[in-house]
Amino acid sequence: MTDPEPIRRIGLENVVVADTELSHIDGEKPELLYRGVDAQELAEKSSYEETAYLLWNGGFPTRDELDSFRGELDDRRSLSHGVAEIVEHAPEDAVPMDVLRSAVSATSVYGDGDGTTRDRSLSVLAKAPTALAAFGRARDGYEAVEPREDLDTAANFLYMLNGEEPDERHAEILDTALLLHADHGLNASTFTGRVIASTESDVVSAVTGAIGALKGPLHGGANQDVMEMLLDIEDSQKDVSSYLAGMLEDGERVPGFGHRVYEAFDPRAEVFKKIAKEVSEKTDGPDWFSMLEEVEAFLREEKRIHEKGISPNVDLYSGTVYYSLGVPVDFFVPMFAIGRSVGWTAQAQEQYDDNRLVRPRAEYVGERGVEYVPIDERE
Ligand code: ACO
Repeated sequence: MTDPEPIRRIGLENVVVADTELSHIDGEKPELLYRGVDAQELAEKSSYEETAYLLWNGGFPTRDELDSFRGELDDRRSLSHGVAEIVEHAPEDAVPMDVLRSAVSATSVYGDGDGTTRDRSLSVLAKAPTALAAFGRARDGYEAVEPREDLDTAANFLYMLNGEEPDERHAEILDTALLLHADHGLNASTFTGRVIASTESDVVSAVTGAIGALKGPLHGGANQDVMEMLLDIEDSQKDVSSYLAGMLEDGERVPGFGHRVYEAFDPRAEVFKKIAKEVSEKTDGPDWFSMLEEVEAFLREEKRIHEKGISPNVDLYSGTVYYSLGVPVDFFVPMFAIGRSVGWTAQAQEQYDDNRLVRPRAEYVGERGVEYVPIDERE
């Protein structure tokens, strides 16, 4: 029997490798659905925890079911001693995504539950924000703050990070930000997690690998890059157009633009844009929102970009929103990871439910017939 003719798809663009009932992206419309519900509608009416329940269970919770889900998270928010040691003793200049990845990985080493996929997934959702906040405090020389049962995930994070009860609207905004990141089809990090799950490895391993994939600047790293670009424009006193023209001349990509699936625009960016406008109007200091509007206008007019159909993605406006909430710039990507943990865990479960090992092929383009030369005879 001869091998079937291999199909070659570098970057796996448009290759379908799984069925999912979790999220659907229509790049042309464009729209994002979580379990069939428009994510923009959820951002307006629902909460991150309710959306997590919806994605995990396939239906909206009753009030009792949501309370009970919240109770399961509350029971797990505190860090076990082993995980706390990792984050509190991390070097103060450690990369927060590295700390988060290590902390999440350690939740299974120091697991205190029954070790089922659900228990471990709940632990990831509950403990990741606590770990990140504890690292933030430790590197600034402060004691960790224990989570409170009367605060949800978003409010708890801001409370544990700053040591004081957050402004209600700030907590709501962070909640919406987490919700908007909850799942997004088979993006690079989710695919990474599903590949790991397909080997029948555990869900914490899947999430740990996914965090590693999200860290890259072509994926989650762009929200931080956008903010750093704005800070650089502000510092350099250059005008937005000449700064961007310089970037394009140097062959650089403008962070916060472009997406493999969305052609017209990213619906999550629309929601973030509205929130960015709101927080900008209420915050003193540089007008990040107007700067981003200038960035958007410049790229819309720029033929090189326009012709390639490159439009704002979720990362363009999310950075300034986090910045206005007082989240440190190097925590932006970990915030994305915290929100996406819902999708990573749900997608790993979906993989377990109908699994086949993911095992593509590579075309060998190297040499053949190379002879072994004993080490003493090598030049
Ligand atoms: N700025 C300038 N040019 C761009 C940008 C950009 N942001 N994005 C794509 N291009 C150009 C590329 O240089 C390429 O040009 P060429 O055909 O002349 O070589 C063309 O558009 C197509 O780009 P690809 O890299 O082939 O598109 P792909 O679908 O692989 O990339 C990606 C998508 C990685 C998101 C890309 O648009 C990018 O690098 N954007 C900047 C980083 C970013 O914002 N990432 C966040 C993505 S959303 C998320 O993961 C949450």
